[in-house]
Amino acid sequence: MTPTAQSGAGEAAEFAPAKINLTLHVTGQRADGYHLLDSLVVFAGVGDRVEISPGPLSLTIDGPFAAGLSADADNLCLRAARLAGSEGAIRLTKNLPLASGIGGGSADAAAVLRAFRVWPERPEMLGADVPVCLAGRPLRMRGLGEILEPVPDLPPLAVVLVNPGKGLATPDVFRALTQRDNPAMPDLPEFFDRAGLLAFVAACRNDLEAPAISLLPEIADCLNALRDAGAELARMSGSGATCFGIFPDAEAAATAAEALARPGWWVVPTTLASPQTIG
Ligand code: C5P
Repeated sequence: MTPTAQSGAGEAAEFAPAKINLTLHVTGQRADGYHLLDSLVVFAGVGDRVEISPGPLSLTIDGPFAAGLSADADNLCLRAARLAGSEGAIRLTKNLPLASGIGGGSADAAAVLRAFRVWPERPEMLGADVPVCLAGRPLRMRGLGEILEPVPDLPPLAVVLVNPGKGLATPDVFRALTQRDNPAMPDLPEFFDRAGLLAFVAACRNDLEAPAISLLPEIADCLNALRDAGAELARMSGSGATCFGIFPDAEAAATAAEALARPGWWVVPTTLASPQTIG
């Protein structure tokens, strides 16, 4: 932690964008049970919001997915603030479904650290996705999530995110994985145009998709619905259950989102892009 980390917050607000794993290869397992990953991570234009105002450390939660998320001491926002050694009244507006493979808690923890302007030495202690969420730009993520490598500029992609309205516990999905030593991602080219990015992503996988579907078959329904609605590529993000479909442009994504509406499903058209162009 930086020596200047002890200060409290002034007023600060941070966007906590959804993290999307365009690819997620599980390449091994360590003796302690944790899995080695190789993933191309990008961020969406939809996300939670964190606001901090001066005061003792506290957390209030509002927004469409506030119900079901406890503001107790284990909440990742409060754990992040304690790791930062910072005080402040945190307000979390929860727009993203819980336990859904798109960063959620990690994005929120990273937003709290950004709001406090604190960069802990080991943000992965808060969760495997916290380092990449703290960086907040497309990166190749390896190891347990702590090894981050730059990637070439990626063209923006119009997508629809679909969640079947049920959460999945990440450890359960890893436990259901049968093949743990899969090949790594191929090397990234030095330049990506849209067709090249789609071809690259299509040649890769999410190794957690099959085990997640075995636990929650509705994920296959989401993927099939995205394909039926015209997605060029449909895949699950992270350990699920949220899926993304890539569409030719924003208009096609918006039209598809209307067709994808189902009772209980969370369906959001958005853009995967560099943070300069989202928010
Ligand atoms: O770090 P995070 O809280 O996201 O991880 C949740 C769980 O997912 C871990 O407790 C572990 O069971 C599993 N996991 C794993 N290998 C990783 C990341 C997470 O096995 N690289």
